Amino acid sequence: MPTLTEDTQLGGQQLQRVVYTPEEIEVRVRALGEDISRSFTASDRLLLIAFLKGSFLFVADLVRVIDLPLQVDFLVASSYGRDKVSSGDVRLLYDPAASLKDRAVVLVEDIVDSGTTLQRLVPRLEARGPASLDVCTLLHKRIAGAGPEPRWVGFDAPNEFLVGYGLDYAEDFRHLPYIASL
Ligand code: IMP
Ligand code: MG
Repeated sequence: MPTLTEDTQLGGQQLQRVVYTPEEIEVRVRALGEDISRSFTASDRLLLIAFLKGSFLFVADLVRVIDLPLQVDFLVASSYGRDKVSSGDVRLLYDPAASLKDRAVVLVEDIVDSGTTLQRLVPRLEARGPASLDVCTLLHKRIAGAGPEPRWVGFDAPNEFLVGYGLDYAEDFRHLPYIASL
């Protein structure tokens, strides 16, 4: 297990504890990939759309354990900036170029918090006529509230601010191979 060393004090922020180790993440991502592989066939023309930037490591690991032909595209929604709570204003800064029409689409999220991001974006993507539209999120805080229920969830996360394995606080900590609380 990695220790919370000097790279855990970026931007004057001190990490509290490791919540998920690289080994735990790897096992869970592999299981998600196997489950997704069983849920579709090659004729579904699977398209994974990953939310940047937070899911960049998750989707990179996930596509390599899905045993189906697939394509990958990205979507950029507005970020929290330096806040730890959502502004509720979700803007689409980069729109996927790939056509969703009649394809099996899986949205790949790093973490569902209030659910606002999914609630705003899923209907807009549904409108493009995918054959199916499912959400796969690595982490879910299970906060009662808005948003569609993800079909695949890696971990039910504690209601703490988490960083690492793609997740940031003010752009720091994304590179950590583990997930820690701030
Ligand atoms: P929601 O719209 O409140 O569900 O928030 C979803 C987005 O907020 C995620 O895609 C993350 O980018 C960000 N976010 C929410 N909680 C955390 C956290 O604990 N750490 C880092 N980013 C978070
Ligand atoms: Mg973020």
